[in-house]
Amino acid sequence: MKVIYPGSFDPVTYGHLDIIERCAKKFDHVIIAVLNNVAKNAAFSIDERLWLLKETTKHLDNVEIDSFSGLLADYAKEKNCTTMIRGLRAVSDFEYEMQMALANRKINNDIETLFMVSNSDYVYLSSSIVREIAYHNGDISCFVPKVVEDTMKKKLKGDI
Ligand code: PNS
Repeated sequence: MKVIYPGSFDPVTYGHLDIIERCAKKFDHVIIAVLNNVAKNAAFSIDERLWLLKETTKHLDNVEIDSFSGLLADYAKEKNCTTMIRGLRAVSDFEYEMQMALANRKINNDIETLFMVSNSDYVYLSSSIVREIAYHNGDISCFVPKVVEDTMKKKLKGDI
């Protein structure tokens, strides 16, 4: 079975990677679809986010990294894939996730959203928490792989 794991991944964290690794074990093919939304003020460019995902998932043979813009339902159709994966960290995620899953199914009745419960080590973790800590010169090494940490440092120094 082929699945899509969509998100902003700004940047990818250990929480995302935990979901990706578990998906790679359960499903034949996993498409990580990064939203390329010009309106949303992302910290990392789409190319940086894609590169970081490629670097951190290169040990997984059945994982493909791609980007999309516009509606996820349209992208799903283009990729001929109707199963979406989303991670659930806490009850607070549920309302937004439910809304998105129902909206996607309203657009395309074939779309199913499967929720994967986060590893308890990462329930508090999000890309925005990582960005916030990094902007205040905090240590993010326990939240993201080294390549993400290094890229974040370069970004904050203005080197990229
Ligand atoms: O990591 P995120 O930011 O929680 O991911 C949200 C994402 C990218 C999955 C969601 O915003 C999305 O699918 N955006 C594309 C537009 C769309 O199709 N929205 C769902 C119907 S309301």
